[in-house]
Amino acid sequence: VEETLVLVKPDGVTRSLTGEILRRIEAKGYSLVDIRMVRADRNLLAAHYAEHEGKPFYEPLVEFMMSGPVVAVRVAGDRVIEGFRSLAGTTDPTTAAPGTVRGDLGRDWGLAVQQNLVHGSDSPESAARELDLWFS
Ligand code: GTP
Ligand code: MG
Repeated sequence: VEETLVLVKPDGVTRSLTGEILRRIEAKGYSLVDIRMVRADRNLLAAHYAEHEGKPFYEPLVEFMMSGPVVAVRVAGDRVIEGFRSLAGTTDPTTAAPGTVRGDLGRDWGLAVQQNLVHGSDSPESAARELDLWFS
């Protein structure tokens, strides 16, 4: 079965939404295979977000992801990569659809980076690479 990397970002952990987010993943029928709480360092985040290096939100994004603990979860299920992206909603919480994590629980805080509660791998290649990084 397919696997994806889900991260509950520091805003989700700080706002005590980890349980609510994991509940939605389990309610959908996906399996939590492994889980750990991580204080991510710059090296890990530079590898994780390599595709965004040089973009205007890159440095605020890395700083945000180092601002508190992150919950990393290995999630398994049929078409879970696409399915979790659908559960998460689109990147901008303001316009993310109601019913999604970002649409129901997120808002725009007027900050330099979207604090949008969760990350989910966006392809099988990303999932394999990211699961290696966070669960090595
Ligand atoms: P992830 O699942 O976290 O990877 O989100 P995503 O795939 O929906 O977005 P993407 O990979 O394009 O960007 C990674 C993260 O950078 C996003 O989740 C946001 O936190 C932030 N980000 C992306 N695009 C923007 C943007 O245009 N403006 C701001 N302020 N932040 C952004
Ligand atoms: Mg992404």
